[in-house]
Amino acid sequence: MKIIRTVKELKEAVNALKAEGKSVGLVPTMGALHDGHISLVERARSGNDAVVVSVFVNPTQFNNPDDLRTYPRTEEADCRRLDEAGVDIAFIPTVEEMYPEPDTRQFDLGAVAAVMEGAMRPGHFNGVAQVVSRLFAMVNPDRAYFGEKDFQQIAVIRRMVELEKFPIEIVSCPIKRESDGLALSSRNVRLSAHQREVAPNIHRVLKESVGRKLAGASLEEVKHWVIDSINAYPEMEVEYYEIVNAADMQPVAEWGDCSEPVGCITVYLGDVRLIDNIKY
Ligand code: PAF
Repeated sequence: MKIIRTVKELKEAVNALKAEGKSVGLVPTMGALHDGHISLVERARSGNDAVVVSVFVNPTQFNNPDDLRTYPRTEEADCRRLDEAGVDIAFIPTVEEMYPEPDTRQFDLGAVAAVMEGAMRPGHFNGVAQVVSRLFAMVNPDRAYFGEKDFQQIAVIRRMVELEKFPIEIVSCPIKRESDGLALSSRNVRLSAHQREVAPNIHRVLKESVGRKLAGASLEEVKHWVIDSINAYPEMEVEYYEIVNAADMQPVAEWGDCSEPVGCITVYLGDVRLIDNIKY
């Protein structure tokens, strides 16, 4: 595996792969890699001749300086995992390399970015669009891979791709979970032992809520039940729980209003913010 830190070398290495007629898959990450990221790499490997993984904690998508400061950084371990997973290129730029000038672009991300994460974290999705569009322009991959834990992010990236007219296929990949149901996240390492024991109840409650829907509960009833059940744990506080239409991320009022309802949740355990979702 080549470890590349400059844009110039990245472009040269990717051009060399393309000159050999190889298709290229890109997996953008912020590092602190776990099995969820590796599942994206495996998917990229099976669909492309070569795989590029970027490892970059993107400051422009953090609206909270403490979150940026405490975001886990584990470069050595990340490189080992990527090498073992058969990655061709790990691109690990500095902030100055990625943003030689401040990025002042404002993307018209529309309604998909206005709700949930977009409402709670002002500027977050614009920052995601900035960094992902830069990576897309540098690598120009055939396909790019994103995990469904960040369900709304995938819709936002699809919107950015449409705006910028990138000829890139966006591949969304299922959530990877611990055996107790907790969605894998780089932030899980920040949970205390006790918070870690409580956290799987997020997925347990979401899963049980599907049973409630099947038993005839209304969307409003399911929504309140999820929020109350999670808030019943003194360690957890729901920031939002919305049931949205997967097609446009807009909240729905009744089950009949959309064909693909998805429940998206954010929960605080102390100062650790976890997100998860479930398809109904
Ligand atoms: O999902 C992430 O880890 C980040 O938002 C991404 C897509 C790598 C952009 O920094």
